[in-house]
Amino acid sequence: MKVLVVGGGGREHALCWKISKSKKVDKIYCAPGNAGISEIAECVPIGAMEFDKLVSFAKENQVDLTVVGMDDPLVGGIVDAFEAEGLRVFGPRKNAAILEGSKAFSKDLMKKYNIPTAAYENFHSPEDAMKYLETADMPIVLKADGLALGKGVLICNTREEAMEGVKTLMLDKQFGDAGNTIVIEEFMTGREVSVLSFVDGDTIKIMTSAQDHKRAKDGDQGLNTGGMGTFSPSPFYTEEVDEFCKKYIYQATVDAMKAEGRTFKGIIFFGLMLTPKGPRVLEYNARFGDPETQVVLSRMKNDIVEVFEACIDGTLSQIDLQFEDNAAVCVVLASDGYPEKYDKGFVISGLENFKDKEDYFVFHAGSKLTEKGIVTNGGRVLGVTATGADLKEARANAYKATEWISFENKYMRHDIGKAIDEA
Ligand code: AMP
Ligand code: GLY
Repeated sequence: MKVLVVGGGGREHALCWKISKSKKVDKIYCAPGNAGISEIAECVPIGAMEFDKLVSFAKENQVDLTVVGMDDPLVGGIVDAFEAEGLRVFGPRKNAAILEGSKAFSKDLMKKYNIPTAAYENFHSPEDAMKYLETADMPIVLKADGLALGKGVLICNTREEAMEGVKTLMLDKQFGDAGNTIVIEEFMTGREVSVLSFVDGDTIKIMTSAQDHKRAKDGDQGLNTGGMGTFSPSPFYTEEVDEFCKKYIYQATVDAMKAEGRTFKGIIFFGLMLTPKGPRVLEYNARFGDPETQVVLSRMKNDIVEVFEACIDGTLSQIDLQFEDNAAVCVVLASDGYPEKYDKGFVISGLENFKDKEDYFVFHAGSKLTEKGIVTNGGRVLGVTATGADLKEARANAYKATEWISFENKYMRHDIGKAIDEA
């Protein structure tokens, strides 16, 4: 089979790696890919939003299956564009990707179908939002309705901050049209867990749990980022939590989408908060998480292409999804200054240390091949990932492997997986 992966970050590198292990696959293309991906796939210089070009490429090269990693093309309807030309593609159609594309939609869906989440109201005008805030309890959470690179969520401790937040989102339009509508939501406390799942429209199969570290600095300080590291499984995702989510959240979401005429096929990523009152949905994503994918797929036993095909064909109930009884940790090596200002173009050395090692992976997020060699080309540069018999061993292995790599302005958090010690 020939497979095309759409995207070019650490998540797509992990996807290409896992697809390369499939018995069914003999050729992988990735658009646009990156320097690390080019070692296992043929990178094609087409952007993820260039649907026409991607469709033509898939047709001309007899691609048998396209897998979409990123949110923007999914929300923009890439799956519909491929299906319209009779091409096989893994991911939700536009009318289902709205589960991630509109937070107001997803909140209304959860309310209508009694799926546990924070109490909220949607607002279409700044005046109404500010009026509501005059009497609301603080702290409070403001969310831009649309996609905002994971940055459209403001946690406000005071009424002044919240009023300012409405201005930022709705009047100054920091995230453009994503802020035309906002969700104002009850502030919750608790540990966060990411749960990825495969969905075929009717059946849902849960992968193993993971936890992200979104803040830039140690001790969860600093700005929100795309994710500075992950571990899997989460020791806080207990059997009791799993049972609750199976009963009230997972299947309920799939059934709700179907009932709305928005049958969901693809990945649903449940961002959960384990509050004192029980698990609540913080957010849905309609795709694999980054860098959750790096730790989840490195533990997955199945041939992932068989699972993708089962989702497309509606036969997921026949798949026995299995994960190794081990753990994995991913530490992101970033450019110092990320997520604000940083320099790039520095030569990366030490990548060869990962060759032929089964338990260590270096997934590229922002790298580029030049005549100087592979250089840094983004805020998040590499996802150094290691497995181990348990979380502590995986963490020690991952941090050991971060020392194999050097580049100027290399930056990382030193406390990825610290929560493990509290479990
Ligand atoms: P989201 O993009 O909705 O996952 O929000 C980004 C981050 O904001 C989450 O990972 C949480 O850390 C935080 N967050 C979102 N909603 C809430 C909430 N209702 N209460 C507390 N924290 C929240
Ligand atoms: N790691 C969070 C996300 O992919 O949205």
